[in-house]
Formats: sequence, structure tokens, C-alpha cells
Amino acid sequence: MLPQWIIEKKRDGQTLTEEEIRFFIDAYAKEKLPDYQMAAMAMAIFIRGMNPKEIAILTDAMMRSGDLINTSSIKKPKVDKHSTGGIGDKVSLILAPLVAACGLAVPMISGRGLGITGGTLDKLESIPGYRTNLSDAELIRVIKKIGCSIIGQTKQLAPADKKLYALRDVTGTVASIPLITASIMCKKLAEGLDGLLLDVKCGKGAFMRTQKDARALALTMVRVGNAMGKRMAAVITDMNQTLGNTAGNVLEVVESIETLQNRGPKDLTELTLVSAEEMLILGRITKSRATARAMAEKALADGSAFRIFRKMVELQGGDVRTIDDPSRLAQAKFKVPMPAPASGFVSLADAESVGKACVVLGAGRTRTDEAVDPAVGISHILHIGDAVTKGAPLLVIHANDKKRLAAAQELLKGAFKIAKSKPKTPKLILERINGETIGK
Ligand code: URA
Repeated sequence: MLPQWIIEKKRDGQTLTEEEIRFFIDAYAKEKLPDYQMAAMAMAIFIRGMNPKEIAILTDAMMRSGDLINTSSIKKPKVDKHSTGGIGDKVSLILAPLVAACGLAVPMISGRGLGITGGTLDKLESIPGYRTNLSDAELIRVIKKIGCSIIGQTKQLAPADKKLYALRDVTGTVASIPLITASIMCKKLAEGLDGLLLDVKCGKGAFMRTQKDARALALTMVRVGNAMGKRMAAVITDMNQTLGNTAGNVLEVVESIETLQNRGPKDLTELTLVSAEEMLILGRITKSRATARAMAEKALADGSAFRIFRKMVELQGGDVRTIDDPSRLAQAKFKVPMPAPASGFVSLADAESVGKACVVLGAGRTRTDEAVDPAVGISHILHIGDAVTKGAPLLVIHANDKKRLAAAQELLKGAFKIAKSKPKTPKLILERINGETIGK
């Protein structure tokens, strides 16, 4: 079997066999197949697509290119959540301890921010001392104690994906449903899960711009997960405006703490509770959505979710004094409000501009090796439908550098619009894809 024969087969729109897919990925992971052949294959897949069986084999082959985490000694149901990423999306920080408080085990391996979307690891690392590089044994010890742990991807986890993702980034092959599916799922399924919830974002602040594309990606991932023996569900959620009122690492940690203390913003709390419902059903803690909702609401109200978050920070080396008193976290030098140009109601609150402004402030990165500034970002962000009076803040910019502040102000100029009459509040949860909706 020669690699070029397999490339030609996919180029001509044929279905690849299991042997061919495994041969290709194995050779690539072991450095026996050059980048140019993998790039040609990625482009052939991009143009010709793959059927669900091919995608499941590709996912499995990429997952097995590295180590799998052996979580079999954890007896609780293991369920995780993956979000395709957005602006102000800090749900993981709240959700993992919340569902742990309800009886699930969550071995959550998260990523860093890239481009305009933030990353869970950058947020957690803004807590002084918090370690994201736990060994597998440490990860399992933390989960056995408190039910969840949030860490970063190790070098041994799905190395074929690491190489292929970098290659796709420079060969115009990122936006391919089979390749995105395999890339996301191979890392998540290496966690040894029973179930996985996907939050597929769509809109201007997400890489899936339309609900139709988001649905296609969600359905493919759900089917592949099911084919690999996992219980799966997905939510499709709006990412045209920022989730919650903040974007930026420390600012998002503070908002997560507030939400864990049951005093967070409505949209963020609602998405976290809906996600918890789906995860508790996936983990078979309950069959009833109403019971799942009540359990999750109780874990926020009685402080148990917050206590688990605090303990997770402590067990992973973080300074818990910053959790008890978030004013001890890094603060930016300049806090500058952006005034509303008129009185009325917010009719546009563009997440993409907020994300770009965060990157220029230094909260995000444009290259994987860049450092982020934990303190900077944007807070007090208004949402579509909020009433505002002329001169009152639409948001507050947190900056450490005057030039960056000016660049962020420039980017945010056209991002908010004010209308005289109240516009309809856009829906946050657009669709749910689960056993009830797809009949599984
Ligand atoms: N996230 C990933 O991990 N991979 C993709 O291909 C896209 C988003």
C-alpha cells in the first residue's frame, strides 16, 4: 500500500477502508509520512468529505496515535463537555464542579485560547499557582477526591492531531467537518468517558457562522461518538454576543466565582444549567430533565459547586486566598468605560469585535507560543435588549498599556448600536440534540 494510492482514492471521491485510514495516520504520527502527503490527503478529505464510518475510524486512529488515560478505577459515571469556543465562554469553570457536586466524574482536558476565542487553561492559569500539567495519576487522585479536575493536553495525548492541526492551519483545511470532528473527538475520547456533551457555537464570534453549519457539525460529532460506543448530546448556542458580562482571563474567573455563588449573569447561568441537565442525563444520574435541573440549581444555591471549585484550585496548587477574595487576582492599570452615544436599547453587541479587542489588549494570542496578560479584557458588557442612557458605559476596558487601549477602543467603535425601541432578545440555546430529539 503506497500513500499516494490512498490519496488518489480519496481525491477521486471513493470511500477509504479501515486499513487505509489506520495505515495513513499511523505512518504520519510515526514521522514515516511527510507533511506534503498528509496535506494532500487533508485537502482531498476537505473537498470530497468522509462518510460517518470513515470519520469514526479516523477519530479512533488519531486517538490511538498517543496514550489513552486509564480512568477505569473511577467508579462514578465519567462525562465531559466540549465547547467549540466563543467569546466570554467560561462555562467549563462552573460546569465541571457543578456536575461533580451532583455525582458525576469530570476528567476535563481543556485547551488554550487561539485567535479571538478564549481558552479554559488561560483562565485557570490566571489563578496564581494553579497547575494545569497534572500527571494521569494526579488527575485521577483529584477526581477521586472531589469529582472533577481541569487540566491541559499532555504531549502524549493524540500526537497525530497536534501535527495535523498545525498543518491544516497553514493549508486551508481547517473548516472541514470530518477533520474538525476527528480532531475534537480524538482528544476528548482519550479521557475514557461514558458520555460527552458538545456545545457547538454559531454566529459572528464562532468558527461556525450559521446554525445550519453548526447543526451539521454537531450531528456528525454525535453520530461518530455513538459509533464509538459513547453516549452523546449537543447544544447549539448563539455566539453573536458575548456570553456573560466579561471577556478576559481574570475577569472571567471572577465572573465564574460569582456564578458558582449563584449571583452570576442570567445567560451564563442558564447555559451552565442546561449543560448540566444534559450531562446528568448522559451520566444516568437521572432520566428526568426536571430532576436534573433541580439538582443543578440546588448545587449552585447551597454552595456545594463553589466548594468543589475552591477545593480543585487548592488541590491543583492554586492560591485559594484569591478565590475567597478575587480582588487579590491581577488587576489592570487602566479601567476605561466606553460611553453609550445615545439613550435607548442595545440592538447590536458584536462578540467578534469584543474578541478582537481582547486579543489586542493582550488577553488572547495569535500564535500558540505567545503569553497572555491575565489582567486585561473587557467587563460590564451590555447585551442586546439592555436599556442604556446616553453617556453610561456599554462596557469597561481593562488595559495595561495605553497604545493597546487605543487600539481596542478603535475596534469597539462600531461594535454596539443603540435603537429607540427594545429589540427582541435573541435566543441563547438554539437547539438541543440528544436522545429525545434524535430518538436514541
Ligand atoms: N478544535 C480542535 O481541537 N480541532 C479543530 O479542528 C477545530 C477546533
